[in-house]
Amino acid sequence: MGKLNFAIDESRCIHCDSCVKECPRRIICDTDPVPSIPPEMEENCMACQHCLTICPTGAVSIFGKHPEDSIPLSSETLPTPHKLATLLRGRRSIRRFRQENVDKALIHEIMATVSNAPTGCNAMDVHFSLIDDIDVMHRFLGKVVTGLENAAQSGRDVPEHLLKAAAKYRESGIDTFFRGAPHLLVATTGEQAVCGPEDIIISLTYFELLAHSFGLGATWCGYLKFVTDAVPELKLELGIAENKYLYGVMFGKPAIRHCRTAQRDEAAKIRVIK
Ligand SMILES: Cc1cc2nc3c(=O)[nH]c(=O)nc-3n(C[C@H](O)[C@H](O)[C@H](O)COP(=O)(O)O)c2cc1C
Repeated sequence: MGKLNFAIDESRCIHCDSCVKECPRRIICDTDPVPSIPPEMEENCMACQHCLTICPTGAVSIFGKHPEDSIPLSSETLPTPHKLATLLRGRRSIRRFRQENVDKALIHEIMATVSNAPTGCNAMDVHFSLIDDIDVMHRFLGKVVTGLENAAQSGRDVPEHLLKAAAKYRESGIDTFFRGAPHLLVATTGEQAVCGPEDIIISLTYFELLAHSFGLGATWCGYLKFVTDAVPELKLELGIAENKYLYGVMFGKPAIRHCRTAQRDEAAKIRVIK
């Protein structure tokens, strides 16, 4: 067994060649008595685990991951298309939150699923900065407001709408930046990422939808992008280098509940190519 730990249980293998045909990098060879990966091909593995997930008899393991530990896929375990569509249609941007922390275990459960989001070339190099404590969130909000004010005072070019939002917070405590959300999830990518911005948005989309499915409220935080574009050193507060692209989603327990789906079925502009 090589460094990939690619192993086929001979007693289960039915020689269907599913793993050989499915491998996107074509590194699994149809060998006797069971398929194998030649050592010189191992470095071409993109770690996608398609060999493990396609095997109809659960004979393939790789990286020490065993088929018994996967969730079986069937009509019993999958949502119906209608239920998934209702989640997608019913998800709304939540801008009023209960002022309390979400259970950390729930956040980590959601993040484990988010880890399964696709990434370009399966690079899996999305990095997250998480504010899971409402007091830390309040402090971060304070740093954002002060950071904008200081940047403007020192003559830097800060967009007017951000300064207005900072002034509104000072005057009335209204938080335009994070809508009073107790938590923030920010994503960036590392050096291995091939499709960095896309990987970030896909991961955060997974997060937003999962958060809603667990009864949490979440909203994309364009303001974080605007603020950190204007004052890049604020990224350092999130452990992120100033030159890194980032995006964020704010979340928490919603203080409100929407009762029905929106009606935007005609919004997609579709050009059918003949
Ligand atoms: C990329 C992106 C950035 C957004 N940034 C903000 C934001 O900073 N603050 C906010 O309140 N809403 C933000 N939104 C929410 C949009 O305003 C919202 O998605 C839109 O009005 C549609 O409403 P819905 O999400 O409830 O369907 C953002 C949405 C997206 C997709």
